[in-house]
Amino acid sequence: MTDRYAIIGNPVAQSKSPLLQTAFARRLGQDMSYEAILATADTFHETVRRFMGEGGKGMNVTAPFKLDALDLVDEMSDRARAAQAINTLKFDDAGVYGDNTDGAGLVNDIQERMGISLAGRRLLVIGAGGASRGAFLPLLEAGPAYFLVVNRTESKAHAIVSDRAEQGRVEAGPIQRAEGGRFDVVINATSVSLTGDRLPLPEGIFAESSLAYELAYNKGHTAFLQDAAQGGAAHISDGLGMLVSQAAEGFLLWRGVRPDISEAMSLLREE
Ligand code: ATR
Repeated sequence: MTDRYAIIGNPVAQSKSPLLQTAFARRLGQDMSYEAILATADTFHETVRRFMGEGGKGMNVTAPFKLDALDLVDEMSDRARAAQAINTLKFDDAGVYGDNTDGAGLVNDIQERMGISLAGRRLLVIGAGGASRGAFLPLLEAGPAYFLVVNRTESKAHAIVSDRAEQGRVEAGPIQRAEGGRFDVVINATSVSLTGDRLPLPEGIFAESSLAYELAYNKGHTAFLQDAAQGGAAHISDGLGMLVSQAAEGFLLWRGVRPDISEAMSLLREE
């Protein structure tokens, strides 16, 4: 029997998940279907329960339901708990399992696709909203020598780092705190590239071989990436690879095999 999966969100028509998951399934010869389901805040819970009742095996959860999904799960991964958000649900006899694959997608994209190791490096994340919170634990577990989270609203950066703070190794502060830090990897996790706002970068945040990584995708050469190139960053990337890698990580949770992301990347770039 064909196993059913779906993405639930609002809006959901723009989502790349159906394209990605069906490409993975085709490539790996997995008998599964994948649909897009629109829900509202009022219908989210019952829609998930109905899909599960009909024999659905799993769902991806996208905006604005990643927090609502926390109330639905019987069990969740540490990284979902740290992110305080769920983007992948798995249904089986044990009940509803919730995971968050966004941060792992980011780490895999940087380390595996780009071949840049985070272990022992100096890492800077700018921004402390949902995207930053989702990435924090997987980035920390990749073993950076120094990890700084900065944000316009400083208290939110401290809230993310919270009990993992370690003087001289894992720290939080205002954006200016990053000045002169010469980071190996600088990640823009703010929403400025989506809103078109300008993010004034402090001087001296890039080292000669730095990677500047923008979580947003399909925004072209953003102001952040341009500033990074001018500031001396050797590598720049948008978040398309993270998008594909988080989907691959979800597929792994569901099917027990990790799809190769390069083919799916070209599919999306062609679009
Ligand atoms: P997301 O889910 O994409 O993370 P979010 O939770 O709304 O979105 O978080 C947006 C992030 O972008 C926050 O870190 C926000 O900073 P504040 O916490 O100070 O609001 C950051 N951000 C948005 N616009 C910004 C701007 N013009 N300059 C600096 N940071 C900005």
